[in-house]
Amino acid sequence: MVGANTIRIDNSFLTVRLVEGKSPLRVIPSARADIPPDANVLGPDARTVVAVSAAAPPENVARIRESGVDVVVAGTDEVDLPELMRILKRDYGVDRMMIEGGPTLNWSMLNHRLVDEIRLIHLPFIVGGADTPSLVGGMHIETEDEMIRLSLKQCFMCGSNLVTEWNVLYRGS
Ligand SMILES: NC(=O)c1ccc[n+]([C@@H]2O[C@H](COP(=O)([O-])OP(=O)(O)OC[C@H]3O[C@@H](n4cnc5c(N)ncnc54)[C@H](OP(=O)(O)O)[C@@H]3O)[C@@H](O)[C@H]2O)c1
Repeated sequence: MVGANTIRIDNSFLTVRLVEGKSPLRVIPSARADIPPDANVLGPDARTVVAVSAAAPPENVARIRESGVDVVVAGTDEVDLPELMRILKRDYGVDRMMIEGGPTLNWSMLNHRLVDEIRLIHLPFIVGGADTPSLVGGMHIETEDEMIRLSLKQCFMCGSNLVTEWNVLYRGS
C-alpha cells in the first residue's frame, strides 16, 4: 500500500521487477478516488484495490473501475484505515501488508496502531531540506510519553545500504 499522493507524485508501479517473484496486491487509499487515469497502478501488471470513502464522486469511481481495478468503500468522508484492513482481510485474504509511505499514510497507520514492524533502509549519503518528505508526516506530540518507541529486531548490510528492522512498541500495550 502507498498513499494516493505518492501515486500522484511518483507514479509508482508497485510491482516486482528486479527479481523473480509474484507482484503483490496493490492497495491505494484515496478518499475522493483521485487517481490520475494514466497512473501505472491502474495498469494490468498486477491486481489493484483503490480504497475510497462514501463521499468519492461516482464518476471518479466509475473511471477507476473501467480500468479493471477494484474499488472498495471504507469510511464516510475519509478512508477508514482499520475498516480497510478488515475488508482486505475478509475479501482479499490479506494477513500481512507492506506500507511504503508516504509520510502522511505512514503516520495515519501508526496513529491507528496498525503497524507492527518497521524496516528502514539507510543509504550512505545525506540528503535533506525543509520540503524533503520524512518517515512520518503530521505527527504532533506534546510530551516524550507520546513518542512511538521501537525495539531493534535485526540489522544487516545489503550492498552498501544498512537495513534495520524494528518492532513497534505502542504505549500501554
Ligand atoms: N523515500 C521513500 O521511501 C518514499 C516512499 C513513498 C513516498 N515517498 C514520497 O512521499 C511523498 C508523498 O507523501 P505524502 O505524505 O504527501 O502523501 P502519501 O502518504 O503518499 O499519500 C497521502 C494521501 O493518501 C490519501 N489517503 C486516503 N486516506 C488516507 C488516510 N486515512 N490517511 C492518510 N492518507 C490517506 C490522501 O489522498 P486523497 O486526497 O486522494 O484521499 C492523502 O493525501 C512523495 O514526495 C513521495 O516521493 C517517499
